Amino acid sequence: MPDSPPPGFPPAADSATIERLQEAARKAAANAYAPYSHFLVGAALLFDDGFIATGCNIENVSYGLTICAERSALSSAISERGADHKIVAIAVTNLNSAASPPCGGCRQVLSEFVTSDAVVSFPGDKGLELQPFSEIFPFTFHLEPR
Ligand code: THU
Repeated sequence: MPDSPPPGFPPAADSATIERLQEAARKAAANAYAPYSHFLVGAALLFDDGFIATGCNIENVSYGLTICAERSALSSAISERGADHKIVAIAVTNLNSAASPPCGGCRQVLSEFVTSDAVVSFPGDKGLELQPFSEIFPFTFHLEPR
């Protein structure tokens, strides 16, 4: 990845920031509770004021009640300081050396809290992928909050 953000990407996509977020995500993945899948996921969210929240997946024997790493990071951030800040960069990783883009459910949930130019980094089939959030989740459903 180049040192400066790739053309068309915002400042939060510079390689040092992405690497710092990926490292935070890796650290969080080490705390994953995944006795059923053994797939250890970590996520880090960078907010517009520089705050970083991390999360890991928390599985449940019911399977369906499992919480993904991305949603766990978001819950932690909002629980700690409310929902006034927007996410400028999202990093996802896993300790299983597999591709792991954020799942569709997490994209939907995160879409309510991202800036229009937020970036997402995740392990793809050919190494680390960097994508604008708007590319991986177009045509977002939304209602005006009231
Ligand atoms: N998982 C995440 O934490 N994030 C995703 O975006 C996709 C899947 C977790 C859920 C489950 O604990 C494990 O990965 C296998 O699906």
